[in-house]
Amino acid sequence: MLIAVCSLKGSPGVTTLASALGARWPGGQSPIVVEADPAGGDLMARFRLSDTPGLVSLAAAARRRGGTDPNLVTQHTQVLNGGLRVIIGPVGAEQARAALSVLAPGPASLLRRAADQPGITIIADCGRVDPDSPALAIIRAADTMLLVARPHDDELAHVALKLQAAQQWSRRPCLVLVGDGYSTAEVSQILRIPVMARVPSDIRGAAALCGQVLNRRSPDKCVLSRAAATIALNIHANSQQPAAIGTRAPQLRLAHPDALPPNVFVHPRSSTAGNGVAAP
Ligand SMILES: Nc1ncnc2c1ncn2[C@@H]1O[C@H](COP(=O)(O)OP(=O)(O)O)[C@@H](O)[C@H]1O
Ligand SMILES: [Mg+2]
Repeated sequence: MLIAVCSLKGSPGVTTLASALGARWPGGQSPIVVEADPAGGDLMARFRLSDTPGLVSLAAAARRRGGTDPNLVTQHTQVLNGGLRVIIGPVGAEQARAALSVLAPGPASLLRRAADQPGITIIADCGRVDPDSPALAIIRAADTMLLVARPHDDELAHVALKLQAAQQWSRRPCLVLVGDGYSTAEVSQILRIPVMARVPSDIRGAAALCGQVLNRRSPDKCVLSRAAATIALNIHANSQQPAAIGTRAPQLRLAHPDALPPNVFVHPRSSTAGNGVAAP
């Protein structure tokens, strides 16, 4: 299975959620988190890893070998404390874009091929995406796209504008809200979008998932991680359901931006968010 995690604006917590999903993936599987952010990766610095192996070495190997061997992906991972396998992106945007452009559409088909192998789940952190992103090919090839946003006026205004296009990128687009702001019900109601899940604000949990050691508690015990476990379980369970031949997953339905009341996101109220998968 191939899952793409991305945002349309800001820095809402894409990398943190991708790592949390990987750490809490169900079924005894050990997924691989691929840092495919064209703006450059953060895991190397956060976890003080070496720059190789990673996305750049994977791109080089794919170029040498024609990018057809799905085993290449598992050969370019590093392992974080706690056992999560990651393919780290280079820090520099130029290098990251170069690696992605060597691999694209290669990384899509290479990652797709790897993700099609039994027992392999790949979670691609595609960063902030626009129609020119070299990571878009990965999103298009993914089984599920998690679109991450903070429920604030500025981020939601961008979601409102771009979501209609974004939902065409993926066969299963899902909106995930992170932290406080508008309630899940308000976002769903105003944008007419089913919100798949709400990840609570959890500064200590997020810091632990970003490699900082703040206390001895396992990062798995934090509310952020528990929310990620619920999301992972939901995606995993959905993937077990056979899709009817010739049908697509239901699309997000979004009111046309012109139809939205003006200044609809002007007065954020405190969140009524819960943990994990949002109520329908
Ligand atoms: N649920 C959360 N609660 C609180 N802080 C968070 C949460 N998710 C992420 N963060 C923090 O937000 C910052 C950006 O997170 P990151 O995952 O790197 O965002 P992105 O990949 O979207 O740029 C980091 O400092 C991270 O610790
Ligand atoms: Mg990131």
